[in-house]
Amino acid sequence: MNDSTTMNNAETVTRIPLIAGNWKMNHDHLQAIALVQKLSWTLSDANHDYEKCEVVVFPPFTDIRSVQTLVGADKLSVTLGAQDISKFDSGAYTGEVSGVFLKKLDVKYVLVGHSERRTNHHETDQTVQEKTAAAFRTGLIPIICVGETLEELETQGQSAVPVAQVIAALAGHQKLSDFVIAYEPVWAIGTGKVATPEEAAIVCGKIREAIAAEHGPEIAAATRILYGGSVKANNVAGFLKSPEVDGVLVGGASLDADEFSGIARFQKHIVL
Ligand code: PGA
Repeated sequence: MNDSTTMNNAETVTRIPLIAGNWKMNHDHLQAIALVQKLSWTLSDANHDYEKCEVVVFPPFTDIRSVQTLVGADKLSVTLGAQDISKFDSGAYTGEVSGVFLKKLDVKYVLVGHSERRTNHHETDQTVQEKTAAAFRTGLIPIICVGETLEELETQGQSAVPVAQVIAALAGHQKLSDFVIAYEPVWAIGTGKVATPEEAAIVCGKIREAIAAEHGPEIAAATRILYGGSVKANNVAGFLKSPEVDGVLVGGASLDADEFSGIARFQKHIVL
């Protein structure tokens, strides 16, 4: 079983796996074109079925127009995401990027609350809630990133902080549109340390239970919950074996077309 399927009121909900590549501040627009071209060729050589496993790249803002043009001209199936969004739609906010502009560039997903934004830019749960609202308002799907630091892991255990961050990001919206959660333990990002597949599955399960308790079982069953933190082609299958984990958010390994396409083809490594 490669898709995650949940029984919900006698109705079966299938969540399409999502493989997301967060390039962070790497690659100019020319390097971005080369990487997306190589990624698409590699996946098409492997007959990748994008309807069964979505592949999304999150280039820096300055690359998005170039990647959009390439995707449009060559009719590629790779989907575009952005790494951040302003909580405002327009106005005197120097340096910020509106979701309205991203939507015009065919961006489908936007990361909100990545731990690097929470740490380096002091983004609070309230900021993350407001950016989630901006994504909903402008027709983008937020990928809400949550996760505990090493200190929080030691003092509060693994799931308390990510669950509280999810509840905060989803609170106070008139209506919830589509959203995705990415559980990324901060201690596992860019460090080479990974949560075990069992630990990741437990936390993702707790997050889904919290969504069900706050927003109902239908929304919980339809929501994709990803794991992120030092994911590579050689460890991805362990995470995605669990029905609680619906995809991965990949940093470093998404900068290499062969490695990232190996991650997207995780179904090939799962021995059932
Ligand atoms: P990493 O980054 O895969 O390099 O650990 C993950 C992320 O920051 O989303």
